[in-house]
This record gives sequence, structure tokens and C-alpha cells, in this order.
Amino acid sequence: MRTCRRLFTCRLALVLTFSFYLIGGFDSAIAQAGPTPAGKKLIHGSSDDPWWKHAVIYEIYPRSFQDSNGDGVGDIRGIISRLDYLQDLGIDAIWLTPMYPSPLVDFGYDVSDYTAIDPLYGTLDDFDLLVAEAKKRNIRVITDLVANHTSDQHPWFLESRSSRDNPKRDWYIWRDGKGANRPPNNWESWFGHSAWTFDAATNQYYYHYFYKEQPDLNWRNPEVRHAMYGVMRFWLDRGVSGFRIDAVSRLFEDPRLRDDVIIPGVNVYGDPNIRHKYTDDLPEVHDVLREMRHLVDGYPGNPVLISEADEPNIAQLTKMYGKDDEIQLPMDFQIADVNRLSAPIFRRLLREIEHNPAHGQPLYFFSNHDQPRQWDRYGDGVHNDQIAKLMAALLLATPATPLMYYGEEIGMRTTPPVRREDVQDPIGKLGWPAEKGRDGERTPMQWDASKDAGFSTADRTWLPVPPIAGDYNVQVESYDPDSILAFYKRLLALRRSQPALQSQGCILLDRENPFVLSFLRKGPHHGEFVLVILNMSAEPRQLALHLAPFGITQKAARVLLSAPQQPSQSISFTDLTLAPFGVLLAATQ
Ligand code: GLC
Repeated sequence: MRTCRRLFTCRLALVLTFSFYLIGGFDSAIAQAGPTPAGKKLIHGSSDDPWWKHAVIYEIYPRSFQDSNGDGVGDIRGIISRLDYLQDLGIDAIWLTPMYPSPLVDFGYDVSDYTAIDPLYGTLDDFDLLVAEAKKRNIRVITDLVANHTSDQHPWFLESRSSRDNPKRDWYIWRDGKGANRPPNNWESWFGHSAWTFDAATNQYYYHYFYKEQPDLNWRNPEVRHAMYGVMRFWLDRGVSGFRIDAVSRLFEDPRLRDDVIIPGVNVYGDPNIRHKYTDDLPEVHDVLREMRHLVDGYPGNPVLISEADEPNIAQLTKMYGKDDEIQLPMDFQIADVNRLSAPIFRRLLREIEHNPAHGQPLYFFSNHDQPRQWDRYGDGVHNDQIAKLMAALLLATPATPLMYYGEEIGMRTTPPVRREDVQDPIGKLGWPAEKGRDGERTPMQWDASKDAGFSTADRTWLPVPPIAGDYNVQVESYDPDSILAFYKRLLALRRSQPALQSQGCILLDRENPFVLSFLRKGPHHGEFVLVILNMSAEPRQLALHLAPFGITQKAARVLLSAPQQPSQSISFTDLTLAPFGVLLAATQ
């Protein structure tokens, strides 16, 4: 998890420069990654070409998606009532953040029972109905596996803390302090202050990477692994199609408890900055990932493992795939955290990530329940709606598996609380005002222009509905052909209808261009390409692309989708003008 809260304003050069850039050359490594490696005919959905390589995954934060019983909090029946919307949008799978019983200190990421549903959201029967109804609409369900820690109210922890010789004592990380008020070492919680909490009853400290109410499980204990694998089987047996594994790089800690390295400065909580060298990305994590993969591979239908791990570079990210025996889809935080529109940076990352030595499939996302929304983060304050369309194309037209966050398709924006007393997320209370917490990106889905935006009928929703909901909502945008929603729908439909957009690999074009990112997606038939051009600057840009080296001899292409709308249905590769932040997808056939 990364709480990347610095909003960048991307000030791109305002000088009107018409630049003519030639193709930077053929990126042979990427181009070789065609749709059918080694001439093999791939069948979508087979284990050679599993569904998750082509799926569009949509993250639902259940508290905020749809409330069916008027209590101001979203629930499972609410999600079921919106499945038609998701099907119509073109979604293939939903990832549900935790709905397990929980004291809700971290809004569900503090689990007190892994094999039940919190009554706030419904029942297990409701969950089964959701899976069945989703299946009818060809939508798969992925659940969140909070593996690193439990709630301090979980019966396992209650037992563990009850005495030093309790059989579950070793299910968590208990250590002696270094003396009165002196924790075992300098490790810090991601959510501020020491990662150790003293428990007077047994005179020891327990370790927690996150809140003190989220004690870390001891993954070196085989009983813990056994129990957690049982949890995975429980949900797979109920028909889920995989897991997003929470905070997976944090499963292990240095057994010697060495102090982390202090680096300059202090964090938003006032603690010295440290590098989490001894609590993050330990090699033992990969043993667990292999075991988890083995487990899901034993189930039909190619269940998927998605990892939450904010790997600092491509080498670390690549390790998550193992030898195709660990994670299939590691969440790519490098793409998510570029935080400004930069053609050279995205070009480099696209190349690097597609070219990863493990040949693993990338998973891209820009917003989620921990990240400020992309509408603000990438918007320049003037062209935000147009930039929202550009970000949609960047997400949905590359060969990666895209992971959307609810509401991005209508241009929902981050709406943080303005008063400390309104904050729900504890890190917002602790770090106020520098850290306002994650409420801003978790506000209710905006379905229509009514009081609670169609999300609820409650007098008060758990987080307020943003004032902008009157203008940006599903209903209003459904009638507007220029809306962000209409653009997403057309783009999602194109992904389905254009085989080139379902292939793997892309050919980067015009590779020295500082403002415009362009690439080709290659279809299965000779000469079948989709050209994608994204102007990442606030100025109109002119391009001259020479595509003959790729076997494209014609000079013009058919516009499939553009924003703003191109004046004509046909474009010339050699004389092409893109509007500020303009998006163009064109077919060569
Ligand atoms: C993950 C979740 C985040 C949660 C944290 C602790 O990073 O995405 O919301 O607070 O884990 O469980």
C-alpha cells in the first residue's frame, strides 16, 4: 500500500511547437511479443491464454458502491443491483475489498473472521448470490486476502495474547523489549510511530506493520500458513476467481530484528524516516507465493493471484512472477505513481514492464482506495475531463491487464474532508493536516443527481457525497455522448471488438517525442494494426509517422475513437494533428 498524497501539477511547456518526429525505430524485443508466440494458436480462456490476460478488472470498495438497506453504507445486495451497469460498461471481473467481520479500524483490512461476511454488508448467502448473478453476466469475482495481519479482535490473536504459553502464541510476532518503554528495535508502522505495541498482561511487545489493532501474523509458523490456505480454499470453493493479496511483501520480518536504516527527514507523523529494509520484500515471501499459486492452480478456471506490493523497480516487480509459479498479476505501482503526464516516462515504463525478464503480464492501475483519484492527480486544473479520457486510453489500450477503480469512468474526483472531526480514516486523524487520510478517494459512487447520488436513501451516508455529484454521475453522463463515461464505454467496446487490442505486446513509435506517446497494437491478421496516439501536452501537436518498417504501406487509417472528435473519419499518418491532451485510436484496415 502506498499513500501517495502529493498531488503534482503537471506544468507542461506552453510554447506552440509543431514538431515532426520520425519513428524512433523498431523495438524488436517488444514487437516480437506478438499475439501468438511461437506460432501457437491461443484460445482465450485456456490455461495458455487465461482469461485474466484480457480481462478488465474493476475494483469495488463495497462501503461506497451501493447501499440497499438505507443505512448509509454500501452492501452486497447493492452491488448485485448494479451488476447490469457493470456488464453494460464492459467489465469482466470485480475485485471486492474486504467485507469480512471486522471492528473496522482500517475499514475491513482488520479482519476478525476470514470465513464470514460482516452483517453490515449482508450474509454468506448474499455473497453466493453475488457470485452466481455475476457469473450470469460473465463477470468474475475476486476477493481480498488480508494475509499479513488480522484484527486484534480475531480469536487467534485473543488466544495468542492470553498467555505466553498459549498454543497460538507463536501465530504472531511477540518479543521482549529492550527495557522499560523500549521496544525490541526501531521498526516503524506504515501508519506512524513504532511498529511494536506493549502488552502489559504478558510483558512483551507484539509487532504490527500497520495499526496496532492489526497484529502481524507469523508466516514462519506452518500452522498459520495452513490456516490461511484453508481460508483461500473456503472462498475458491464458493466460486471466487482469485485473490488480491493485501500487503504481500510485508509477510516476513528479519528474525534477527536488526534495526532499519534511518534516512534523512521525518514523515507526516513526525517519526524519523526509515528504509523498511528488514520488514519488506524478504526472500521468504516467495516461498509463500509459490505455495499459494500451487493451491489456486489446483482449481479449475485459472484463478488469478494479484499482489499488492509497491515494488520500487522493475527488477523487484519481476520477482513477483517467480518462474511463472508465483503471482500472475503484480499491481504495478510504478505506472500508478508516475503522477504527471510525461510521454518519455510512460514510454520507458511500458517498454521496461512489457520487457520484464519473467515475461509476465503487467497489471496497470491509476486509482484505488489508497491513492488519490486520477482525475485530480493527473489533471492540470484546466483540461481535467479531457485528461481523464487520455488516462482511460493509457489504461485500456496498452497490452496490460487494466484495473479500474469504481467511479473513474465518470470522472470522480478526490474529495478529502475539510475538518479533522469529519475524518474517518485513522491515518487522517493522526497525520492531520499534512495527511488527511484516504476518505477523499472512498466517497460514495455517484449514480444520479439525487440527494445521496442514488447511492443510498440514508439521511447521512458514511462519507459525504461530493458536491460535484450533481454534474458527474452515471445518469447525466449516460445521455451525453461527450462524457467521460461515454468515452470509457466506447473504449471498452473497442477492446472487445478489435483483436489487436487483445493481443500481447506493442510497438512503440516516435520514441524521442517528448510530448506524444504513440504505439501500435498488432492484430492476428497480416497488416492488422491499431494505432494509439496520446498527446500528453497542453498544446496541439503535429506528427508524421512512417509505418512502412512495420509492413504498413498505406498512408491513411480509419479513426476508431478520438477525443476530442477528429474532424474526419480518416487520418493521414504523415500529417496528423492532435488536440491538447488529444487521444486517437485508428485502424489500419
Ligand atoms: C493495504 C490496503 C490498505 C490497508 C493496508 C493495511 O495496503 O490496500 O487499504 O490500509 O493494506 O491492511
